[in-house]
Amino acid sequence: MKIQRVGVVGCGLMGSGIAEVASTSGFQVTVRELNDELLEAGRARIEKSMGRAVSKEKLSAEDREGALARITFTTEVSGLSACDIVIEAVVEDVEAKNALFRELDPICAEGTIFASNTSSLTITEMAAATSRPDRFVGLHFFNPVPVMKLVEVVRTIATSDETFSRAFELSKALGKVPIAAKDNSGFVVNLLLVPYMLDAIRQLERGVASITDIDTGMVLGCGYPMGPFTLCDFVGVDTLYRISEIMYEEYREERYAPPPLLKRIVSLGRFGRKSGRGFYDWSGETPVPLPL
Ligand code: 3HC
Repeated sequence: MKIQRVGVVGCGLMGSGIAEVASTSGFQVTVRELNDELLEAGRARIEKSMGRAVSKEKLSAEDREGALARITFTTEVSGLSACDIVIEAVVEDVEAKNALFRELDPICAEGTIFASNTSSLTITEMAAATSRPDRFVGLHFFNPVPVMKLVEVVRTIATSDETFSRAFELSKALGKVPIAAKDNSGFVVNLLLVPYMLDAIRQLERGVASITDIDTGMVLGCGYPMGPFTLCDFVGVDTLYRISEIMYEEYREERYAPPPLLKRIVSLGRFGRKSGRGFYDWSGETPVPLPL
């Protein structure tokens, strides 16, 4: 059965990116947010990102109009009932995700696939909350979704071969390069990336070097597109904190434990670029490292 209508739940940084690539790839898309205000913010994010693609001549103005027309915005979970796949990109909280999937389960068709864009929770704990663990996968996209080519397609021990291959093919149809991952917290990329970012914070705590010098070290010494602190502010300092707590809870290994400095920064509401301050102050032309 061909996937034609893609549901996306949550229209934040990741959800809006997923909705954008699905609609520009020709799929009918239904986006659900909790309220009108969040829905409008999500719509504006998609329009802005598509506008950027038009100005970079990656998308024609006509194709942008077509893509926007293919997106339906709703605040009702019932609006997703006709979707062939529903991809969840809501807050990284298993209770919130499971409540959503429990609501979706009875109203979606038998064949509808459920997918989660979780960064660090296991897919199994969500699949187990539904009557369709065989039709449940992880589809983990990367930020910024329109730019990053990777999707981790995650199968649990209950995922059917058919579901996995439909999700894998969908990722390709979205213009992405899928890789297969087992359902372990952090999958492939975050299992390596999260300890790397946490180690950079530990280096800072130990006074090894400054924020700017650690970032410059990794950009110029290793060719990374961003240093670890810029990346942390880009991903969200609160998000990194949440992910590391989940991974530490899962593995009980020190490498995943959130360093105290990370916790202090989150306590101050310094969530990174989205809040204007994180490890850097983002309010000016160029980011300025904050005194710690
Ligand atoms: N939306 C759409 N396009 C964007 C974009 C966005 N938000 N941000 C940048 N772009 C495009 C630009 O238009 C530009 O396109 P062009 O080459 O055709 O002109 C291209 O990306 C490069 O952008 P810029 O020239 O503005 O800036 P950079 O060269 O610094 O690239 C970047 C920006 C692509 C974000 C690059 O710095 C990068 O790759 N950073 C690392 C990102 C990364 O590691 N992401 C993964 C985070 S981890 C994650 O998401 C997992 C989660 O679970 C934690």
